[in-house]
Amino acid sequence: MNHLVAELQSAVDSWRAKGRALPQTILVSGSGLAIDLEAEVLAQGELQELLPFPAHGIVGHPMEFQLLRTGSGVVLYYRGRVHGYQGLTAAQTVFLTRFGALLGARNLIMTNAAGAVDPQHQPGDLVLLEDHLNLMGKNPLEGDPPPEWGPRFPDMTVAYSRRLRKLLRHHADQRQVPLAEGIYAGMAGPSYETPAEVRMLATLGATVVGMSTVLEVIAANHLGLECAVVSVVSNLGAGLLDVPLDHEEVLEAGRSAAARLQTLFGAVLGDADLVG
Ligand code: HPA
Repeated sequence: MNHLVAELQSAVDSWRAKGRALPQTILVSGSGLAIDLEAEVLAQGELQELLPFPAHGIVGHPMEFQLLRTGSGVVLYYRGRVHGYQGLTAAQTVFLTRFGALLGARNLIMTNAAGAVDPQHQPGDLVLLEDHLNLMGKNPLEGDPPPEWGPRFPDMTVAYSRRLRKLLRHHADQRQVPLAEGIYAGMAGPSYETPAEVRMLATLGATVVGMSTVLEVIAANHLGLECAVVSVVSNLGAGLLDVPLDHEEVLEAGRSAAARLQTLFGAVLGDADLVG
């Protein structure tokens, strides 16, 4: 953790030294879900440029960042993310979240691809997260985060901001984008769940399952950011249909949801009310 704190500081210093604008909002898109926003591009580059450890892209993850000026202000947009299953620690997995927060961002908005645990959610559905289960077996606050980042035992009662959820709901309703609500189970991956695990997750109260998001949401809450996450359902969870899961299906569902995501996120990121 301690060397990562120094590396974060040096990434922040080098951003500032380049005279780059400071973001109010961090936007992260999941597997095959990159969005093209109407915005002025202030800067762009490879995510690797910001990271002090190697992060190899996986299929469907372009792994770039853009610094955008939108109607809501300056947005640091990560087109792709790093995952713990690439062999990273929890602190490495949330490096980019903390980087954006230390540059001054107050909001974290993300998408992810997820499997449906509740068969009420169907492939292509957008699901606004209300809460999560962290079943990854790790936590980004392990070790000694600097006390000025936030409390040792941060409250997670409203980890998914009511204000941001209301804003997303408002824009979804206005533009007639169907938006379900659900609870996300974060699993370590990278193997998909077994049918027994999907049944377990349903018993625990999850309605969707994926391999990202929860660590970033914990780190962001710790640093005082408001979070909102939309899952794009890419498949029914293992065992709900008698067919094997594959990554191509995940990417295809992302393509089918692309227009609705674009409409919703275009509206939200363009809204000056996003930055409270
Ligand atoms: N399980 C876990 N992660 C996923 C899934 C799934 O079914 N689909 C997309 N990401």
